[in-house]
Amino acid sequence: MSSFKDKKIDYKQYVVDSQLRYFKPHASNIEKSFAEEIAFSLNQDYKFISPKFFYDNKGSNLFESICSLPEYYPTRTEVSILKKLENDLPPYLDENVRLVELGSGASVKTRLILDVFTKLQPKTEYFPIDISEILTESSEQLLKDYATLNITGIIDTYEGGLEFLQNYDDKKNLIIFLGSSFGNFSPEDGRIFLKKIFSTMKQGDLFLIGLDLVKDKKILESAYDDSQGVTAKFNLNVLSRINDELGADFIINNFSHYSIYNEDDQRIEMNLKSLTPQSVMIKKSNLSLNLDEGELIHTEYSHKYKPSQIKMLLGDVGFEIKNMWLDDKKYFSLTLVSKN
Ligand code: AVI
Repeated sequence: MSSFKDKKIDYKQYVVDSQLRYFKPHASNIEKSFAEEIAFSLNQDYKFISPKFFYDNKGSNLFESICSLPEYYPTRTEVSILKKLENDLPPYLDENVRLVELGSGASVKTRLILDVFTKLQPKTEYFPIDISEILTESSEQLLKDYATLNITGIIDTYEGGLEFLQNYDDKKNLIIFLGSSFGNFSPEDGRIFLKKIFSTMKQGDLFLIGLDLVKDKKILESAYDDSQGVTAKFNLNVLSRINDELGADFIINNFSHYSIYNEDDQRIEMNLKSLTPQSVMIKKSNLSLNLDEGELIHTEYSHKYKPSQIKMLLGDVGFEIKNMWLDDKKYFSLTLVSKN
């Protein structure tokens, strides 16, 4: 084990073998910020929990289950578009481009991009960045299937991972951010995040972003409130995580999953509804929380876009639009931009 020190954070390096290593900030950094963020976000009149906290091991597995639900169209639609990239992406790549993925999760969709890279390159470098340790399992799985792959996993937040990358080296990167995860940011945080990506990128670097499109309200609402209740479990799991990691005493059955589509703001709004007046103690956040019956804890936005809005959003940050791909039903989009 050795370490890599960027400007602010100390990373421990875990070398598994010549093709696989991980970087992870010291555990105390991660735990401290979780407790502090919860202490702040649940101590407001308008209570919220950041969606980044959904993804402990159980939450990541539940999310993988969501991705194959009949109602949840984004994953299979994005996959259908990624398949088109087999022919359309190579003109933008060369032998030395590194693939960097934000929020890689189980790296399932990544395989379609890795197919393109490994066909084109004798050796392919892949940097997955994910807050969840599921990254370690998926990396080992990938190495079984791609002999010419070299993986450096960064187990950290997106921001942490981007800062790590910025201070790392001069190699050209294609950064991918799939699954419409960008839609989970508030509009303000989203713009800040795009600026962060833009400033991390060097001239000639590429960025590929998957974004969900505006569509019929019924289709959207059933995608986020499925008939098998998996999305409800995923939402409620964040309370179990707070119980386990921050010493809280949430009674999970005292809450329900509540999700609606807000047409004006073009977003799904996901909440946890308190079913009764109740008090909850969160020890490590030093917080005693009182909730009224019917009170909502906001857990996630999932914004939907029109193609023209995507071009404007990315163009405003300074990106040059290289290409945009949609599926036949115009449910989902992939947009490739560069920094020139
Ligand atoms: C990860 N993210 C893009 C998902 C979405 O569709 O906004 C998270 C999700 N929440 C409920 N279902 C899926």
